[in-house]
Amino acid sequence: MGVTLGIDIGTSGTKTLAIDERGGIVANASAEYPCAHPRPGWSEQDPELWWKATIETVQKVLSAGTFKPADVKGIGLSGQMHGSVFLNASGEVIRPALLWNDQRTAAECDEIERLAGGREALIRMVANPALTGFTAPKILWLRNHEPALYEQLKQVLLPKDYIRYRLTGAYATEVSDASGTLLLDVARRKWSGELLKKLDLDASLLPACYESPEVSAQVSDLGAKATGLLRGTPVVGGGGDQPAGAIGNGIVRAGVVSATMGTSGVVFAHAEEPGFDPLGRLQRGCHAVPGAWHVMGVVLAAGGSLQWYRNRFGEHEVEEARKRNVDPYFLLTELAEQAEPGSEGLFFLPYLTGERTPHFDPHARGGWIGLTVRHGRTHLIRSILEGAAYAMRDSLELIREMGVSIQEIRLSGGGSRNPLWKRIQADIYGQDVATVNSSEGPAFGVALLAQVGAGTFATVPEACDATIATVERTPANAELKPLYDKSYAIYRRLYQSLKSSFQAIDQL
Ligand code: XUL
Repeated sequence: MGVTLGIDIGTSGTKTLAIDERGGIVANASAEYPCAHPRPGWSEQDPELWWKATIETVQKVLSAGTFKPADVKGIGLSGQMHGSVFLNASGEVIRPALLWNDQRTAAECDEIERLAGGREALIRMVANPALTGFTAPKILWLRNHEPALYEQLKQVLLPKDYIRYRLTGAYATEVSDASGTLLLDVARRKWSGELLKKLDLDASLLPACYESPEVSAQVSDLGAKATGLLRGTPVVGGGGDQPAGAIGNGIVRAGVVSATMGTSGVVFAHAEEPGFDPLGRLQRGCHAVPGAWHVMGVVLAAGGSLQWYRNRFGEHEVEEARKRNVDPYFLLTELAEQAEPGSEGLFFLPYLTGERTPHFDPHARGGWIGLTVRHGRTHLIRSILEGAAYAMRDSLELIREMGVSIQEIRLSGGGSRNPLWKRIQADIYGQDVATVNSSEGPAFGVALLAQVGAGTFATVPEACDATIATVERTPANAELKPLYDKSYAIYRRLYQSLKSSFQAIDQL
């Protein structure tokens, strides 16, 4: 049996799965870990947590008894994008990694734009403006704020690439995740020597860069001993969690777009050309399909907003869910179902960790607007589901404005497993939404890339065509369109009205 593994290093946990040559899942395991917020706007994780979770989940998958280590023909790695793992000359981690939703680097983003010769010049070099979550500003933050550690810095890795290093001993990445560092010449699919020079960063800080289905390294003795995998098992490039999730959703041609409600919310479209937008309104990068690119909009706290509500105010539902052995989100959305569409004029702004698309504002704050004495918990929860969907619609509108025709929207992530949230998304996007047979997202996507690397399929689109199909459609309710279109227009104005207050709050 030609099994491949997909390992996804997420923000709230790691998921490992094994698939056969037809894309069938033969084993599956996950392990959770916390995220630290040592100061407002900061978000960090100890890379050792990812490695422990990788060992645990790989061992579980191998001991499921459905296949032997010798059957593993390849491994694909995926993970939260943009995070910075800082290593010294001995390959040791010198401080916790700064994550994709960390907002401490506003000053370094300005510094990068200045050193690059302006925003447009920067976008010409690396296809993106400087965003606080990206990796390059994090490297400059270390240089500016922790110079003694910067002195020791010899290698910068992305989260999944740190796991590759622990598994194989190799420093390597691939183009889709590298696009989110702000140091990749996205059009040419190689590191931007030009920008590295302008930022005075040594190119040796960065790993070798591969295409996503290409074999990048083999499992080492150490990696084999820790996990139970066989020494020499090939590890392909893999992908950042969004491009990898897009592969798992079959987003490999123009016209089909995915909307993923995970911790972050991402609208992702395939592109045949690298493209150029002097305003940098959407993130651009290389796709995990060789020769293709992508555009995406990122809402920092989409599913993360509901998770926040569950953690802070959902004790009762969490307890009840434990007793009834159901998912607490199921109980929360049962409550939301009792509120009317539009939540009786209550709006939730999901900017709990600032916002990326479309505002690029690290100081933006979350909140409820429009409360009256009639509102209760049912409205609070429903308005969170609606607010996350309005925020995603912002990205869809930008993609539409760029002339990309959207024939199909495929949902994935937690928000695609919840019937109410699916309906809300269809109604707010104003278009039917679909789900596909695989709901395993990035881990499945990179396991497929590993099948391509192992030669089971000649190309990534061929692998997707053979294994992924639409299984369900949720129609948009035409009767709700006028209400949701009007409400969306109000939602858009709220940020503009509050923007200067958010700045002022930040100065308090
Ligand atoms: C993408 C992004 C997030 C992370 C978290 O640009 O920042 O989606 O990859 O998973």
